[in-house]
Amino acid sequence: MLPICGQTRFRIFLLVSVALILLTLAVIGGAALASVINQSASHVATPSAPSCAASLVGRADTLVSSLFAAISAANCDLTRADQWPADFADEALKNGLAKYDFIIVGAGTAGSVVASRLTENARIKVLLLEAGADPPIESEMFTLSPTLHHSPYTWTDFAEPNPNCCQGMRDGRCYWPRGKMLGGSGSMSGSIFLLGNREDYERWQQMGCDDWSWEEMLRLYEEAATQDEADEESVGKLVLNYFQHLEEHNELAQLVLNASYELGLPYLSDLSAGTGIGYTDAIPANIVKGRRMSIAKTYLGQVARIRPNLHTIKNAVATKILFSPENRKKVVGVEFTVRERHRLKAYAMSDVLVAAGAINSPKLLLQSGIGPRAHLNELGIQPVADLPVGNNLHDHGMMPLMLTFEREFNLGFERAPSMNAPQSVADYFLHQTGPLAASTSIMGFINSNFNSAAQFPDLHLVSHSIVPASETDSFKFLQLSGEIVTGISRAAQNRTLLQIYGSLLRPRSRGKVRLRSVDPQAPPVIYNNYAGERADQLTLLRYVRFVQRMSTTAAFRQYGLKLLHVPIKQCDNIAYDTDGYWLCYIKYMYIGAWHPVGTCRMGAKHDTQAVVDQRLRVRGVKGLRVVDASIMPEITSGNTNGPTTLIAEKAAVMIEDDWKDSLA
Ligand SMILES: Cc1cc2nc3c(=O)[nH]c(=O)nc-3n(C[C@H](O)[C@H](O)[C@H](O)COP(=O)(O)OP(=O)(O)OC[C@H]3O[C@@H](n4cnc5c(N)ncnc54)[C@H](O)[C@@H]3O)c2cc1C
Ligand SMILES: *[C@@H]1O[C@H](CO)[C@@H](O)[C@H](O)[C@H]1NC(C)=O
Ligand SMILES: *[C@@H]1O[C@H](CO)[C@@H](O)[C@H](O)[C@H]1NC(C)=O
Repeated sequence: MLPICGQTRFRIFLLVSVALILLTLAVIGGAALASVINQSASHVATPSAPSCAASLVGRADTLVSSLFAAISAANCDLTRADQWPADFADEALKNGLAKYDFIIVGAGTAGSVVASRLTENARIKVLLLEAGADPPIESEMFTLSPTLHHSPYTWTDFAEPNPNCCQGMRDGRCYWPRGKMLGGSGSMSGSIFLLGNREDYERWQQMGCDDWSWEEMLRLYEEAATQDEADEESVGKLVLNYFQHLEEHNELAQLVLNASYELGLPYLSDLSAGTGIGYTDAIPANIVKGRRMSIAKTYLGQVARIRPNLHTIKNAVATKILFSPENRKKVVGVEFTVRERHRLKAYAMSDVLVAAGAINSPKLLLQSGIGPRAHLNELGIQPVADLPVGNNLHDHGMMPLMLTFEREFNLGFERAPSMNAPQSVADYFLHQTGPLAASTSIMGFINSNFNSAAQFPDLHLVSHSIVPASETDSFKFLQLSGEIVTGISRAAQNRTLLQIYGSLLRPRSRGKVRLRSVDPQAPPVIYNNYAGERADQLTLLRYVRFVQRMSTTAAFRQYGLKLLHVPIKQCDNIAYDTDGYWLCYIKYMYIGAWHPVGTCRMGAKHDTQAVVDQRLRVRGVKGLRVVDASIMPEITSGNTNGPTTLIAEKAAVMIEDDWKDSLA
């Protein structure tokens, strides 16, 4: 008997595994695998087991069953419901809701930390509202998470068209997927965990946020990452490991590291000391043995079931912040919709904490009358506080560059097993190894003004991974248009590609988030404005020139690694490789990096650009805070999940302190 895990998804998964074995499809890469899974699942209507020709007496059948049972048990363990908080929805719908001390909107990275930390104190009662449900198995298997980019577990918003960027994406619009499930974007992310560097927080301090020092962040990080055996089960924590590597990828990593070394870049052996200048393949991630350890899982799921003072309602979308009828500036609760049908209200004696992420937090504030007065007036929303909500939207952005191997090579990666080979599936479920548990990522932090004495990087180079000639389709997951994808494939002429993505660590351009209408269901209007500023375009240009310098190193020359000329008809009337050509390329190929921040910016008390103060209280109203990536005044030098985790750690301490003071 196979264990039953109540996941119909799993039936599809087994079915697809069988289909894959039968068809022996040979496709590598998460994104490619995704499309195979989707297609197979929809094309194969009814499960049909292969009929075996030979007769058997029983023993062989037992062996086969035991293999299926082991894989099935491992899969059930991966999708265990009790690793997530229980859903309080039915109870709330039946009996209504009592008053809470705090209501938290959003159980993403930040919301999970705050809910977990506050409820360590048994006297603090918390209601946590999350728009999504438990993450699917493709989130647990982090190598499959690209398959979630367009799924019911995702907020699928597109930006308004902008001639400066994303022109090579479908419809020429930037895409902003974010996680809509427990764990939020941290449940569909690449799982990379970085703190940024000292200079990031020094800049925050210079902007008037003097409580937010690098030393403070390091201290919070060390506290969170230190595991105390004694409270293993009862306290939420940060769980990090380095990505596993496949042996077959070692030589490729050596190649990239050799090239960067030739360019004078040191090996970064410890990124937790900050993202200084250099290259590395030792990348910390929220992962254990190929399994995602999102903040929602390790901080919240870990403790939720033993905390009667924490109620979580899933499929609950907050639509409005409620103010006191006596005092329009005093927040008293939240209005929300459960399962798209039931409208409820919940009340907080202390604060409402908005942790809906850098797009949805400003959206909720705007819907509630907190934002630029003129915009609210236009929509007929009565303004409660006139604040620059939704401004200062920025992201690292990223720009793919492809290099071709012009010379014969034997770098070992050709022998790496395919992700969807039956052996890889078995390795993942039975041993937590193999390509489904590994990452090939290598990253570099460089200062593009090579000759300056700058100590801090302005460019982040990631990926450095291989795209076999037959799989240029994998670029589709980036939402590149069909024309661009086939163009890359044609230009590659059946040669293997090395792909590198470059991101701006210090983007200057700013966009904004606004409401489309008063209807809370309506998607927000996003003006993303990547590379709107000349300075950003010039840094991206220096990124191209840096990659070209890489291809002049002895390491790269050995394999004849050369930039691929991606056909873009609107740029190809400009002489190839001129600055003008690359400035055009930037308009087409500089796209989103999924790191939105800044839209409810933190600042000093009287800073008119700020939405929240240093204790993350929304200015001009009482009882409301924003705690998530939106409060960053400027983006950090590296992926944003780590800094968001620490922002929430710091917030939880401040919120509890203020709560205690209010009792005194
Ligand atoms: C595809 C992708 C890859 C990424 N890769 C990395 C990476 O490798 N490393 C890294 O450091 N960062 C990565 N990031 C970025 C990182 O995940 C985010 O910076 C981080 O999750 C931000 O945390 P947050 O709490 O601000 O928002 P989120 O984690 O997005 O959480 C917001 C939560 O609020 C919920 N919500 C929204 N609106 C409402 C509402 N009205 N009512 C109730 N709930 C609501 C959402 O469903 C969500 O669960 C990636 C992001 C994406 C999308
Ligand atoms: C990297 O450099 C080392 C030391 O010089 C050399 O032994 C190795 O072959 C190089 N590897 C590649 C892939 O270039
Ligand atoms: C591409 O290369 C592979 C392996 O070398 C070969 O089998 C295939 O026929 C080639 N395809 C084209 C279109 O040249």
